[in-house]
Amino acid sequence: MQEASDKLRGERKTIGFVPTMGYIHEGHLSLIDISNQNADITVASLFVNPTQFGPGEDYKKYPRDIERDKRLLEKRGCSILFEPDADTMYSKYFRTEVYVRNLCRLLCGETRKMHFKGVTTVVSKLFNIVKPDIAVFGQKDAQQAIIIKRMVEDLNYDLKIILGAIVREKDGLAMSSRNIYLNKKERRDAVVIYRSLKEAEQMIENGERGVLKILRLMRKVISEKKSARLDYIKAVDTNGLKPVSKIRGEVLIAVACYFGKTRLIDNIIVNPLNI
Ligand code: PAJ
Repeated sequence: MQEASDKLRGERKTIGFVPTMGYIHEGHLSLIDISNQNADITVASLFVNPTQFGPGEDYKKYPRDIERDKRLLEKRGCSILFEPDADTMYSKYFRTEVYVRNLCRLLCGETRKMHFKGVTTVVSKLFNIVKPDIAVFGQKDAQQAIIIKRMVEDLNYDLKIILGAIVREKDGLAMSSRNIYLNKKERRDAVVIYRSLKEAEQMIENGERGVLKILRLMRKVISEKKSARLDYIKAVDTNGLKPVSKIRGEVLIAVACYFGKTRLIDNIIVNPLNI
């Protein structure tokens, strides 16, 4: 992969990179589009990274369909697929880790303690392997995007991060490889996450600025579905991910919620200055 990238760079081609764990859906493919709009050649990676899954999480049963993924990616204009195996990425001597202090312990990091360290370490490796000029990440994983931007700035990675908007199903559920785990009822119920975010947005548009009130309504909307078990709802600033009590400037409202055994996340960024 490094040789292929060096060759492209030698030909003065710019490289756009979309890292994924596969089971490709329209959310991933929208990032391929963005990469193609911003670079000459698009590289995607497909690697279900073991180090970002905690004990008891779904590493073993994470959905995989490589042939389908390859077809979809190629059709959408991805030229190179980097698909390493775990032994190649992590030799038995592997010792080095990258983590972004503080940010990796908040929100999803409170319950998934090692998750973001696994993400930043693998993304750091992938950046060194693929040598991209730009890398595209989804707003769907808002905390991941914020942490990776921090890492790129802190460690002077010579590349630009571009974010893609959240792609949703017709009823509003954010697309995710994990949606396949949901049974029919859970799938129907899961739309409450989006509904709660829309309610929050509406309240803010109507002038409400108090976070307690907004989150209370969101909790109420979600609790109406029996299969929903909330992990967290938080309103935080988009730099430090610290909770805010008033909606002033840019605020990330993030939700993590279980439906059965499946943990789904979603978010919106609100900014009353833009209303
Ligand atoms: P994965 O969950 O496969 O997601 C790959 C990329 O697709 C991420 O940038 C994610 O934010 C984006 N994405 C997922 N669903 C989306 C949606 N509905 N709309 C827009 N973008 C969406 O995130 C990972 O993999 C891994 O942590 C990875 C960065 C590859 C490191 O292992």
